[in-house]
Amino acid sequence: MRVLVTGGAGYIGSHAVRALSRAGHQPVVLDNLVYGHPDIVEKGLKVPLVVGQVGDREVLEPLLRGRHPALSGTALEGKPIEAVLHFAAYAYVGESVSDPAKYYRNNLGDTLTLLEALVASDRPLPVVFSSTCATYGIPQQVPITEDHPQAPINPYGRSKWMVEQLLSDFAAAYGLPSVIFRYFNAAGADPDADLGEDHDPETHLIPRVLDTMSGREPYLQIFGDDYPTPDGTCIRDYIHVADLADAHVLGLERLLRLREREETLAAPLIYNLGNGTGYSVRQVIETAKAVTGRGLLAHVARRREGDPPQLVAGADRAHRELGWRPRYPELETIIAHAWAWHQKRHQT
Ligand SMILES: NC(=O)c1ccc[n+]([C@@H]2O[C@H](COP(=O)([O-])OP(=O)(O)OC[C@H]3O[C@@H](n4cnc5c(N)ncnc54)[C@H](O)[C@@H]3O)[C@@H](O)[C@H]2O)c1
Repeated sequence: MRVLVTGGAGYIGSHAVRALSRAGHQPVVLDNLVYGHPDIVEKGLKVPLVVGQVGDREVLEPLLRGRHPALSGTALEGKPIEAVLHFAAYAYVGESVSDPAKYYRNNLGDTLTLLEALVASDRPLPVVFSSTCATYGIPQQVPITEDHPQAPINPYGRSKWMVEQLLSDFAAAYGLPSVIFRYFNAAGADPDADLGEDHDPETHLIPRVLDTMSGREPYLQIFGDDYPTPDGTCIRDYIHVADLADAHVLGLERLLRLREREETLAAPLIYNLGNGTGYSVRQVIETAKAVTGRGLLAHVARRREGDPPQLVAGADRAHRELGWRPRYPELETIIAHAWAWHQKRHQT
């Protein structure tokens, strides 16, 4: 299956590219490289990379038909794309508050252009979309199941929620088949340490902890220790990036099976992706100390606005309907893989 992976030069997308290749599919990446890493795609994953904006029709249309120059000489040349994994987005919550236009233009506007291209033919192309637990806002209860009300509290979360509405309307009106994955906290790295998390700036807890333990950062800021949780710090559900990647292959294959049976979906298939276990910031730090044998200096800072005390997934639906079984649910393994990648990447 020929699969377009938008944002495939980024953290989760690059792991999905690897999982697709291993499952026998043929991926091609479209990434604007604002945050992506081209070497990982071309040299590491050995997959064609098209540098461009998802919202650029002049790139997108030939690419979907297999006629983009970057595909010449590859197995994808002249052959139409059959499905899309759509990871490309900007994902800095704080920046989305100070510059919402950037987020709505990129995450919503570009996605609208993509979806229009997908429904342009008689047979709309299936798409798997990266949504987020941020679409739930402040949870009314945990674990959070897919039917929990959605009330995102920042423009990033709202841009993702709006794309979910687009997918729903496009399914009803044009028969666009889609899967929406609402990820909790993606973490870890490829178990072979060939791929991993490399954001700049980095806002995610586990890489920040490891940066501090390896001396790349002087200290770790803990944002608030007065939450209503057992140790006062925020609790999150960490899901291994390789397990997220596996879920994407399963979601895609589910859409393709439905298509082969000529079944149309009146609405997107929606799944939370998490482990169903929450860890506090302090528990993450303690686990990282045990895994790495290193310590760190931590300062407690003020709460960040809009950080809910607890975000934990109810992910039974993905287990039941997709047969998804996370291979690396333990926090120790997630951190050990992230640490192996970190050491290889930074030679610490
Ligand atoms: N990392 C997480 O914990 C997490 C949690 C929930 C949801 N998500 C979502 O998962 C997706 C991937 O996240 P990630 O952590 O891998 O991010 P990332 O920044 O590492 O990857 C995103 C990639 O998309 C590219 N990109 C962004 N906008 C683009 C556009 N308009 N056209 C072309 N390329 C574009 C960037 O250059 C980058 O390579 C995002 O949609 C994000 O919102 C991530």
